[in-house]
Amino acid sequence: MEKICFYNTKSYDKKYFDKLKDEYSVDVEYFRGKLREKTAVLSAGYDAVVAFVNDDIDEKTINTLYDSGIRILALRCAGFNNVDLKAAYGKIHIVRVPAYSPYAVAEHAMGMLLSLVRKIPRAYNRIRDYNFTLDSLVGFDLYGKTVGIIGTGKIGKIFIEICKGFGMKICAYDPFPAEETDIEYVSIEELCKKSDIISLHCPLNDSTRYIINKRTISLMKDNVYIINTSRGALIDSEALLEGLKSEKIGGACLDVYEEETDYFYEDKSDKIIHDDILTSLIGMNNVLVTSHQAFLTDEALHNITTTTLENLRCFFDGKSLENEVCIKCANGEKCKKNQGGRCF
Ligand code: NAI
Repeated sequence: MEKICFYNTKSYDKKYFDKLKDEYSVDVEYFRGKLREKTAVLSAGYDAVVAFVNDDIDEKTINTLYDSGIRILALRCAGFNNVDLKAAYGKIHIVRVPAYSPYAVAEHAMGMLLSLVRKIPRAYNRIRDYNFTLDSLVGFDLYGKTVGIIGTGKIGKIFIEICKGFGMKICAYDPFPAEETDIEYVSIEELCKKSDIISLHCPLNDSTRYIINKRTISLMKDNVYIINTSRGALIDSEALLEGLKSEKIGGACLDVYEEETDYFYEDKSDKIIHDDILTSLIGMNNVLVTSHQAFLTDEALHNITTTTLENLRCFFDGKSLENEVCIKCANGEKCKKNQGGRCF
């Protein structure tokens, strides 16, 4: 039975992995701490490492894991922008869960939008204080509004279908447009000019970092709403805050934040928060922040667990690694996957 070293464990991770580990004949040791250079030494003696989206898997961490004998790292998430793929290539196979529930993320995006537009968090807090007034709770109809979708992959496409159900008009920007679709594709500039609401559903990479910035915000309609359930650094947070303060931006729904690593998933309720941009955003009544929870449904956790354990079982049994990612294939170049079923 192979032994897995599981970093950054939350109670829900343990619940789902404990339920399924026997089925995949593995033993799991759960660590509370994040994976980073200092904690990577704890992996010595284990057969694999499981890590998450906010672990710090840089070159030093990779080398420490490698020196500890680790040859496979399974990400229990889709995104891999926190992994130094260049450092890992030829040393440690990186596998991930490419899709676990695009519905979870798309539905959360719509949940946030509706909550903010109809001021539901404010109404909820007010009612708990037995204040039944309606002042300053005026919202607007989503029906007839134009939503601009940046990234029309799995999640973006589902979000489009949800928006269509509300009678919204759709436009989209994606350098790799979907085939055989009625989605109206426009340039990023056109999307900014046309949209009442903009929702981000693209990965974080060199071409998308700060795709929402001072310039793109200046092109947007007054009172535009921005939703980000993808990655924090798609938005220049300082420019976002400026746009909110100047009332150019009407509201923002943020499930992710560019400097979230030190805060999200942690209880900081008795600590001083040193990130002034984050505290300003949280303090605004037209901003709704959730702690990178868009994926968090029963269905998604079940799928994350089965795919992660399946990825590891394939590695242990010497099989192909369908969900492996490396510095080459992640950048559209050919790796050895087509020949031997593994990236290297
Ligand atoms: P996907 O890979 O199916 O789709 C991504 C789309 O973005 C593709 O159509 C791609 O062509 C497009 N794209 C690439 N470069 C672009 C650019 N420069 N501008 C605009 N579009 C571009 O990915 P999926 O599953 O739809 O996920 C989207 C993102 O959602 C992930 O990259 C991840 O960052 C985020 N995510 C967030 C979660 C959360 O809990 N908040 C959970 C899961 C994913």
